[in-house]
Amino acid sequence: MSDTALQFGNRELVLVSNREPYVHERVDGEIQVVRPTGGLTSALDPMMASTGGTWVAWGSGDGDDEMSDEDGCVRVPPESPSYDLKRVSLTDEQVQNYYYGYSNQVLWPMCHSDTAKMTPKPEFWEHYRETNEHFADAIREQVDPSEAVIWFQDYHFALAPRRIREECPDAFCMQFWHIPWPSWDVLQSCPEYEELLDGLLANDLLGFHTDRYCENFLDCVERAFDTEVDHEAGWVRYEGRTIQVESFPLGIDAAERRQLAGSTEADDAWESLRETYALDADRLAVGVDRLDYTKGIEQRLAALERLWEKYPERRETFTYVQKASESRSQIDDYQRVKENVTSEVERINDRFGTATWQPIVYIDDHLSPAALAALYRESDMVLVSSLRDGMNLVAKEFVASQVDDPGVLVLSELVGAHEALGEWAITVHPNDTEAFADSIEEALEMDESERANRMEPLRASVEENDIEAWKNSVLQSASKVLSRKETTAQRDTTGTTTEYTNE
Ligand code: G6P
Repeated sequence: MSDTALQFGNRELVLVSNREPYVHERVDGEIQVVRPTGGLTSALDPMMASTGGTWVAWGSGDGDDEMSDEDGCVRVPPESPSYDLKRVSLTDEQVQNYYYGYSNQVLWPMCHSDTAKMTPKPEFWEHYRETNEHFADAIREQVDPSEAVIWFQDYHFALAPRRIREECPDAFCMQFWHIPWPSWDVLQSCPEYEELLDGLLANDLLGFHTDRYCENFLDCVERAFDTEVDHEAGWVRYEGRTIQVESFPLGIDAAERRQLAGSTEADDAWESLRETYALDADRLAVGVDRLDYTKGIEQRLAALERLWEKYPERRETFTYVQKASESRSQIDDYQRVKENVTSEVERINDRFGTATWQPIVYIDDHLSPAALAALYRESDMVLVSSLRDGMNLVAKEFVASQVDDPGVLVLSELVGAHEALGEWAITVHPNDTEAFADSIEEALEMDESERANRMEPLRASVEENDIEAWKNSVLQSASKVLSRKETTAQRDTTGTTTEYTNE
């Protein structure tokens, strides 16, 4: 019997995300399966493979329809099918307004507290609402919500739980919000804040990465509605229901990363990377990011420039490798990040580069998991300088890949991962260029014993709080909330009342 069958009785697990774990793309007339590189889908696919159930997601591939049955379903993983992937078709207009519009030009900047980048337009909101309903209807076509556990992922679906609840009051819905939840002042800048909170409160369980985001959410609910909120126990009473709000810090498959970093495949990948990009400097730093304005890549480049200016002995001997992946590039703010980053790299390289040394190596080609593991392993430090970041799994991937001489984690204090890892990292503020440059120098000077002393607890923390631990704690909480809900419903039908307490 699978884990979820044990925890949820006969209810089927239905996972809902915007991105699908397997995309069928037409390449040169042939259909190929592509796995999106995003952390969310690759983290949850092994769980679905072991528990079974249905994954509902936007069918974004041009070969998706052809490879799915008349209900839009296909069995995956392709190599050993064990769960159903139900693809939801979206029109171009929906993609433009729901995905590029409301999700990524309103919710994304707002949740990262960058209100100046929010562009709320009526058509964005209209399509966001309509597309959320469309997803909710697709879920109901597939399963009876009163016999399922519906698990929404992320900010693309703030309204879908409400639609499910309206149609099926007995449904069990939960949601994990993978990005930060902002403070009340920031949330208020969004004209639709009441509907967003109301939609999320249609869940039974709501998860965030950190306690701080939970606290922000509870505070927003208390200020927006006249309702009972227990900050200590983490619950809200809303429309006669109780919603549990809890933090579950997302982890990675640390053991897999460790093994990969120590593999001969990684050794070979490193040889070829070194040759291709001439990575011959004595010391290396690495940054791995989607080209997103929240990642603070421009701030990081400013700190590196200051370092080579202030510590000229680091010229010719220290190279920074920026692995960048294009992201949401139809949005102007994302185009601008790409242009700024590439032109800054060029300018800094022109300023300090010599005939035999390039200060910054910019890689926008795809890197295999083994090549990425090798790059992390061989680097003396990783630079994570986000201006705001829900968790940041790059920090954890770097730590898990330190199988040799340990490197240093240089970590912005503005990321979720700082809550657990900050104590053993070198903490930076992305906007304090001078101190950031000095921190890179400090990391370069750090002796091996101190690096090892810091890496040991980091590694223990990343391994202990891995993806498996995250999944188990979310599912355990869900099963507790579900059994409490079922007991309450039973007692209500027999006329007795119950007090809600958090165990
Ligand atoms: C963040 C979000 C994910 C998203 C990923 C990639 O990590 O939390 O939900 O999938 O970015 O972004 P994209 O817009 O390409 O899906």
